[in-house]
Amino acid sequence: MPTSPLARRTFLKSGAGAAAVSALAPRAYSANDKISMAFIGTGVMGSENLGVAAGQPGVAIAAVCDVFQPNLERAAAIARRAGHQPKEVRDFRQILADKSIDAICISTPDHWHPYITVEGCKAGKDVYVEKPACVAVDEGRVMLEAARKYNRVVQAGTWQRSGAHFQKACEIVASGELGKIAFARSWIYNNQPKKGIGNPAEQAPPPGLDWDLWQGPARQRPFNPNRFGVYKDTYSYFRFFWDYAGGIVTDSGIHMIDIVQMALGDAMPGAVVALGGKYWLEDNSETPDTMQATFEYPGLIGSWEHRSNNTELGKSRLMGINFHGTRGTLYVDRAVMRITPEDGSDLKPFEMKRIADPHPLHWVNFLDCVRTRKRPNSDIETCVKSSITSILGNLSIQAGMRLDWDQQAQTVKQTSARPLLRREYRHPWKLEA
Ligand SMILES: NC(=O)c1ccc[n+]([C@@H]2O[C@H](COP(=O)([O-])OP(=O)(O)OC[C@H]3O[C@@H](n4cnc5c(N)ncnc54)[C@H](O)[C@@H]3O)[C@@H](O)[C@H]2O)c1
Repeated sequence: MPTSPLARRTFLKSGAGAAAVSALAPRAYSANDKISMAFIGTGVMGSENLGVAAGQPGVAIAAVCDVFQPNLERAAAIARRAGHQPKEVRDFRQILADKSIDAICISTPDHWHPYITVEGCKAGKDVYVEKPACVAVDEGRVMLEAARKYNRVVQAGTWQRSGAHFQKACEIVASGELGKIAFARSWIYNNQPKKGIGNPAEQAPPPGLDWDLWQGPARQRPFNPNRFGVYKDTYSYFRFFWDYAGGIVTDSGIHMIDIVQMALGDAMPGAVVALGGKYWLEDNSETPDTMQATFEYPGLIGSWEHRSNNTELGKSRLMGINFHGTRGTLYVDRAVMRITPEDGSDLKPFEMKRIADPHPLHWVNFLDCVRTRKRPNSDIETCVKSSITSILGNLSIQAGMRLDWDQQAQTVKQTSARPLLRREYRHPWKLEA
């Protein structure tokens, strides 16, 4: 095997290199073999993922990794309480280089998902990566390419796909029982004080944080507590800054848009139009607090809306989807799926509640696929699609125009908007499958 980087590149381009890629053959597990796992990014969701995985039979937590010492220590304690003996690692590259690790879970902020997924696939690891798959449209294609090229199982964190009542909802929509569905609306509402997440001054990073490695491929910025966004008892605020994420539509919206697309056989919209902005909050967040996006699928309009200043006294359901058909409406959220017939329709009312928590089921599905090499419930391809749909909503606002999506060419028809599909990586990070 060539050792210098140049020799290695030449080798990989040659036939012998191609053989080396396919030689990343999956490990064959016998019934008693444990899947050796590392958890990269152990904040709120990373801890939840770790807690669920640590309790599964057949898993050994080999390492936990975070660039923020308090979160790293908390994760190590979670794993130890469940009977594991993880290494504590601050730089994920040590994990990728460790050949004894079979699979990684990436629960970092969004801007790290593509790079660590792609490098993880190259290093022969299976990957559980949180949603959204990517921050920029073009990154999604590279992630999918890496998953397929290196023959990896890559499950995305869109866990609703493992929920029985979501699966039933998608089955009913696809079956035609609701008649012609021409409209599917999805939403999230909340009511926040005008001060929102506040407007703290730039300052020195807290002790124990490697701010440079936290930012990684993102543009280098002075430390601001809201950009890092880690506070007690809340999901972090990085999600409201363009350098790291895409705001509410790529954070919550993607979960709902993902189910709409699952029900439509993982169709992509051919056109997207959106409006929105910061109309209410006076804080240093950058992404829209209010937004409406319209997606044109074949024969159906999908819509996403969020607002941050009103919940209609909680009377309106706070996050959900309505599929509107000629024979009835199917409503689904995280608790229930319900069919309400139209007047005069022979459709029967129907309700199905959530049976079991889908998140652990999603993990069981991932671990099963690692062993069997089947495609997981949220195969990366599906999450790349719902991530791109959500991102295009933001880009339509930014470009001030309708965007026509060409799934085959993986680009938009409007050439002036194409630069918005890319994200520059800060040196030395480079995204390459
Ligand atoms: N599937 C779901 O339902 C769900 C729910 C919440 C969050 N999420 C996703 O989980 C991800 C994390 O969100 P969160 O709310 O837990 O954020 P968080 O800020 O609480 O956690 C992120 C952690 O990643 C660490 N980190 C940053 N760069 C790192 C690096 N290079 N190496 C190792 N660690 C690094 C941070 O220090 C932090 O501890 C996001 O992508 C979010 O969208 C998914």
